[in-house]
Amino acid sequence: MEILRANSIVKNYQDANSVLKILRSVNLSVCKADLIAIRGSSGSGKSTLLHILGMLDSPTSGEIHYFDKLVTSKNKELAAFRNKHIGFVFQFHFLLMDFTAIENVAIPMYIAGKSWHKALKEAGELLARIGMHERLNHYPNQLSGGEQQRTAIARALINHPDIVFADEPTGNLDAKHAEEIISLIKGLNEDYGQTFIIATHDQMICNSMNTNYRLEQGVLELVPGMNS
Ligand SMILES: Nc1ncnc2c1ncn2[C@@H]1O[C@H](COP(=O)(O)OP(=O)(O)OP(=O)(O)O)[C@@H](O)[C@H]1O
Ligand SMILES: [Mg+2]
Repeated sequence: MEILRANSIVKNYQDANSVLKILRSVNLSVCKADLIAIRGSSGSGKSTLLHILGMLDSPTSGEIHYFDKLVTSKNKELAAFRNKHIGFVFQFHFLLMDFTAIENVAIPMYIAGKSWHKALKEAGELLARIGMHERLNHYPNQLSGGEQQRTAIARALINHPDIVFADEPTGNLDAKHAEEIISLIKGLNEDYGQTFIIATHDQMICNSMNTNYRLEQGVLELVPGMNS
């Protein structure tokens, strides 16, 4: 089942006296439970594309459909739609500094209507799955970069969104912790049919995904031999 379709996505940034053409014409079709890696050199537009697909930024032109619903027109319902269906792991983590790791992860579940008690319980269990059980009550400034990253991943996953965008989710992690994240992603994909779209330079992630794309010159192309 197709859940996301992007048609002819263009993104330009207007400079003082020139136009920067970042995305020239991106087309993408995503089915439920797809595991997609997007590769591409630094500055090629991976974060830009993820933000647009994740409805955090608007394209200059082009259309995005989720479940056959057009989401590129301005619409009040879109924020609610995004909260319900989309999870986002940012390249820079944006944890709330006044809350502990477990609280940062629990907050989206509490906002979605679960009790604080249940949200803390689930947040604790999810963090434990990625080796964070001894850091639950640390504040972000008491966590290493990799621990902050794992907390941000757990926060994006706590409500089991249909589709998760992750921007370099293993960028700060060593091989062991990267493997834990990958096995969490694959486990959630199998258990809940969650879809993942991951911008990454990590070969281990690329090898673990079903489909690999490369973003180059503003166009998204399948990487031959990396698709099952
Ligand atoms: N708000 C902005 N205004 C102008 N240019 C921007 C803006 N945001 C991003 N860019 C430019 O767009 C290009 C793509 O940036 P983007 O962050 O999407 O790259 P990326 O592929 O994610 O790179 P990296 O691998 O380093 O994370 C860069 O050249 C960047 O300078
Ligand atoms: Mg980026």
